[in-house]
Amino acid sequence: MSGLLDRIVAERAAQADRGERNFLSVLLNASESTEAMKKLLTPDYVSALTYEHLLAGSVTMSFTLSSLVYLVAMHPEVEEKLLREIDAYGPKDVVPSSEELQTKFPYVEQVLKETMRFFTASPLVAREASEDVEVGGYFLPKGTWIWLAPGVLAKDPEDFPDPDVFRPERFDPDSEECKRRHPYAFIPFGIGPRACIGQKFAMQQLKLVVIHLYRHFIFRHSPRMEFPLQFQYSILVNFKYGVKVQIIERTN
Ligand code: HEM
Repeated sequence: MSGLLDRIVAERAAQADRGERNFLSVLLNASESTEAMKKLLTPDYVSALTYEHLLAGSVTMSFTLSSLVYLVAMHPEVEEKLLREIDAYGPKDVVPSSEELQTKFPYVEQVLKETMRFFTASPLVAREASEDVEVGGYFLPKGTWIWLAPGVLAKDPEDFPDPDVFRPERFDPDSEECKRRHPYAFIPFGIGPRACIGQKFAMQQLKLVVIHLYRHFIFRHSPRMEFPLQFQYSILVNFKYGVKVQIIERTN
């Protein structure tokens, strides 16, 4: 994988007119802009950043979308409400603006958040204490590694009653459950200065894809899908054998 990326980076670097509308071209253009940038953005560093972006921004997104399709197919009441909101927006060929994505699709957002709570793509977030520090009565010497488990927090019944029930309404900002919840209970994008830099972009892109998909299709579990689902755990979680669904075109 890293060999392939090195090759792509080298090929793009050799292009005279590489444009500026994608991540790699922006990085390469920046690396040639000043002497200081040339020293900072070495070919190895550009490859590493590209790899990080690919891993951070594609596996997480595909896992979240697959999870959503899988979970919505199991919950007809959620599907019905989701379709109602999406259809109410207007004609299928009109693409919502970024402002409309924020204001006109509250249920899409709740379904996405509940999906990320139910199946958390990034199971562990790590930090290293840069100096001696005390947290919650525990003394952590400089250099200690601390692991946070967002997926475990997301299943804590204190903050998420009936945690094994898929219920997007628990993210309705007017609901008692949501108002009562600790602000750090739901952190699928991590937290603090090193939290996911793609968070806003990810939510916007996920909403757009969900709207586009459900405008045209609904999904049903395929008889070929294994039960119970099996996961593959590493720095990110993924489905061991994917999510197999039947795609049904919506006719009205
Ligand atoms: C559902 C989608 C996504 C999820 C669940 C997710 C989750 C996360 C998490 C948990 C972290 C670690 C945060 C921490 O340590 O506190 C992270 C970091 C990061 N994410 Fe995402 N992410 C998603 C999408 C994206 C996208 C679309 C991009 C890029 C366009 C992206 C780029 C990054 C980068 C570059 C970092 C490292 C940030 C740093 O170390 O300062 N992520 N992400």
